[in-house]
Amino acid sequence: MKDMYILGIESSCDETSVSIVKNGTEEVATVISSQIDIHKDYGGVVPEIASRHHVKNITIVLEECLNQANMSMNDIDAIAITYGPGLIGSLLIGLEAAKTLSFIYNKPLIPVHHIAGHIYANSLVKELNFPLLALVVSGGHTEIIEMTKHYQFNKLGGTLDDAIGECYDKVARVINLEYPGGPKLDKMAVIGNKTYKLPIPLKDESYNFSFSGLKSAVINLAHNEEQRGKELNKEDLAASFQSVAIESIIAKVKKAIVDKNIKNVIVAGGVAANNGLRQAMKELTEELHVELSIPPMKYCTDNATMIAAAGYYAYLDGRRADLTLNSKSQDKLI
Ligand code: KG4
Ligand code: ZN
Repeated sequence: MKDMYILGIESSCDETSVSIVKNGTEEVATVISSQIDIHKDYGGVVPEIASRHHVKNITIVLEECLNQANMSMNDIDAIAITYGPGLIGSLLIGLEAAKTLSFIYNKPLIPVHHIAGHIYANSLVKELNFPLLALVVSGGHTEIIEMTKHYQFNKLGGTLDDAIGECYDKVARVINLEYPGGPKLDKMAVIGNKTYKLPIPLKDESYNFSFSGLKSAVINLAHNEEQRGKELNKEDLAASFQSVAIESIIAKVKKAIVDKNIKNVIVAGGVAANNGLRQAMKELTEELHVELSIPPMKYCTDNATMIAAAGYYAYLDGRRADLTLNSKSQDKLI
């Protein structure tokens, strides 16, 4: 088969990104314009502001990506676009750009689910081996997905309320860490000790998670300490929270690996950067003699490289969209 160059576009949250990937595995060029500094002042992503910045950035990011690749739209074989889930206003900007390019240059349009993108970030590092289990942990998602072949997803479980990254960011606010607090809290946890007692969420037989109770427990603990005039040990709180959050994730992943007789595990999404989680996943997969793959950080947080990579396999799976494709703020991964 002739080489295939896919142009991916990602704008589901606060990153405007365009990338060109060859044959689903080789990154040619990627440009990411992040809005983290803009949203920092508000303690989280403000959807309306995010959409406006996507509008400002999208054509600049596209041109820059083509320049870096030294390619024109004529060299592109197909366009992969994150159609959902995410912030609707943000998604629409990327979608309209993708549809316009598809129409003008007469290129196939491939719809990509954002989570499929996170999973296929791994194919930029090494080939996916099936059956595999994907743990997707990010600001918007906490999901366990089983895959028996390319582009076939079986969601075993997910969060019933807050996503793990969202929970990290909210707990980080309790100890006055700037948005996004997850990475800062992770660093503090390394220094602290697990001295605070927090409840392990949703200890049951399902593959689901729940983090809102844990978040509330941290908030209550902080209030109680304050009322008693006691100073909160931030490092110890970070260590206590991280240990419980990870214990809850590992328990469910372990159950899924054993129940489904899994031999390959991948971790994807922004929280895959977490030191505690990486270490715990390493120990778990060693114990169960399972292969573990975690993509490098640049492919873990939101980017269009993973969308272009997933787009290639979606294309091989026969997935196409026409100009009636719409963005979806929520959509099941199928
Ligand atoms: O995948 P991502 O870039 O965006 C979404 O699709 O949500 O993930 C961002 C999330 C944020 O909540 C951020 O705080 C969290 O990932 N995060 C971390 C770490 N690095 C990023 N959480 C805990 N520990 C980290 N080291
Ligand atoms: Zn994401």
